[in-house]
Amino acid sequence: MARIVGGIATSHTPTISFAQDAGKQNDPVWAPIFKGYEPVQDWLAETKPDVLFYIYNDHMTSFFIDHYSHFTLGVGDEYYSADEGGGPRAIPPIKGDPALAEHIAKGLVADEFDISTFQNKGLDHGCFSPLGLLLPHENGWPLKLIPFQVGVLQFPAPTMRRCYKLGQAIRRAIQHYPEDIKVAIAGTGGLSHQVHGERCGFNNTPWDMEFMERLEKDPEGLLDMTHAELAELGGLEGAEIVMWMIMRGALSKKVETTHKAYYLPSMCAIANMVIEERSDEKPEEMDAAYLKRINHQVAGVEKLDGTYPFTIGRGVKAFRLNNYLHSLVEPAHRKLFLDDPEKSFEQAGLTEEEKTLVRERDWRGLIHYGVIFFMLEKLGAVVGTSNLHIYAAMRGETLEDFQKTRNAQIMYSVAGTDKGKTDWDNKEPAK
Ligand SMILES: [Fe+2]
Repeated sequence: MARIVGGIATSHTPTISFAQDAGKQNDPVWAPIFKGYEPVQDWLAETKPDVLFYIYNDHMTSFFIDHYSHFTLGVGDEYYSADEGGGPRAIPPIKGDPALAEHIAKGLVADEFDISTFQNKGLDHGCFSPLGLLLPHENGWPLKLIPFQVGVLQFPAPTMRRCYKLGQAIRRAIQHYPEDIKVAIAGTGGLSHQVHGERCGFNNTPWDMEFMERLEKDPEGLLDMTHAELAELGGLEGAEIVMWMIMRGALSKKVETTHKAYYLPSMCAIANMVIEERSDEKPEEMDAAYLKRINHQVAGVEKLDGTYPFTIGRGVKAFRLNNYLHSLVEPAHRKLFLDDPEKSFEQAGLTEEEKTLVRERDWRGLIHYGVIFFMLEKLGAVVGTSNLHIYAAMRGETLEDFQKTRNAQIMYSVAGTDKGKTDWDNKEPAK
């Protein structure tokens, strides 16, 4: 079973990555930043976790207010640096761990944390700014990353108590993961700062010191603090320390801080901690009982012939093709697909197998491959095929035979105003 080796807390201000990218290691004003991270690097090099579960928040880069959520688990197989306006940082991509992420997702949902998931999104300074100082990466990163994005920028935001409980659920999931791997937990954000409004520039070092002390020794004494109380003491953006509570919740009750650093050169205190486990707290449930519980909702679905639940695993494996078909909602991509499908396949980097499935409108094959049905009906709308044609093809029947199984022989699709895409209506059905 997987083992949690300890936790890291760290600020994630872009000051950290700027210092690294600009090569400020020997500048006396910047050097304390690097010095403060050296013991964390040493701890990671000694403990050698296989996976870093990394709690951070995005800053309206890849997660915008057009669709904002509280808890978003990274399930992808690779993550890259986001472009925050001046081009992405020159930092290599890092591997994810889709299998462990899917297991954690199942555990969290079973524990009533209805998280969302993401892949193929750039990670901004909330992730990569401190990560670059935590780990060597010139020749590739030494471990896998599971990023966990927390929506702390729009109110209502998750509470301290909710975050702590979420951490406990993450701990359960990791401890019951049936692979013999080591996992470290990182919580990022803070410490005290405010970057907006007339109060910008607010800091409070005594509160930062108190918070770090209580995080180790009395985390549960902090759980009733409101966002307003956190903002009063640590600045509004400093309230992102709720993410440190997720990390703390994922550790055992008894821990010891073996490293602590604090430096306040400008707007935000740059702080970090290494918190090591000091008890071997085992989960309350037996492994088999936990695994049965998190798989309970879909247990038995495998007996249903012709039924393929769209799991995280399928979504990761078939992401490229699902993404290609989803892009048909964009008029420019749709036009390219209709005018020059081979060029559109090449641009999207589809494999030969994926190209063939689309070229041949192999509706059943697409489902078997891992494409979700709702991409099929989009493709149908683009090429002028009704939903009924697709249903019949998936069943291996003619349209007429399938229509006989319905109460009325109607036809429809999701096509809107594009010309000619519902030509099958009021005509003899095509074969
Ligand atoms: Fe932040």
